[in-house]
Amino acid sequence: MKIATEVFTTKKNQTVTLRAPVLADAGALRQLMVGIAETAPYIASTAEDIRARAVDAEEKWVEKYNSDARSMIIVAEVDGQIVGNLEFSGGTRSKTLHLGHLGMGVSPGMRGHGIGELLLKKLFAEASRIEGLTQIELSVMHPNVPAHNLYKKVGFQDCGRKPNAFRLEDGTWADEVAMFATL
Ligand SMILES: CC(C)(COP(=O)(O)OP(=O)(O)OC[C@H]1O[C@@H](n2cnc3c(N)ncnc32)[C@H](O)[C@@H]1OP(=O)(O)O)[C@@H](O)C(=O)NCCC(=O)NCCS
Repeated sequence: MKIATEVFTTKKNQTVTLRAPVLADAGALRQLMVGIAETAPYIASTAEDIRARAVDAEEKWVEKYNSDARSMIIVAEVDGQIVGNLEFSGGTRSKTLHLGHLGMGVSPGMRGHGIGELLLKKLFAEASRIEGLTQIELSVMHPNVPAHNLYKKVGFQDCGRKPNAFRLEDGTWADEVAMFATL
């Protein structure tokens, strides 16, 4: 689905536009995700994973999510630059249609401005319009403290922990914490 565009002011008094991506954003989205991965040890993809994707991978991703009635991408734009994104995929089987899963990130220089929280609140507003959707799920690595705090702040609760679910680039291990929020 394509979300409705909305404009907000960040904690640092900058104007941020939350909108659906267009195909022309594909390159900027790849750059954003590489920048996030380079500075975030506790996300599942490495910068190399993202660089290794097919050249048209982001275009296909944008097309797929914009056209799927139960999924969405939200981009955050400040001064014409994409500085954050959130991906939400709704369940596809009859027994999981009430569920959706999210992943997100904000560019290193724009963290702590309130953009992550704005992205999640926008998701809650948009997801509540999806027929039958009642629960949003995510997983976060322990110890990704900024992300875990953000999710708790907007209403997610922990509901399980899988030990050593990820082997990090430095050879250490991280647990996966499962979280959910009810709409
Ligand atoms: C996690 C992330 C998306 C947060 O986005 P953000 O825009 O920086 O977060 P916000 O400024 O909206 O912060 C909202 C709340 O999150 C928590 N938070 C954010 N940064 C934090 C930090 N460095 N330390 C502790 N808590 C933090 C706080 O509860 C904060 O509320 P407060 O400002 O009232 O204290 C961002 O740090 C990021 O992109 N990290 C790398 C990628 C990543 O980890 N993605 C999530 C994978 S599960």
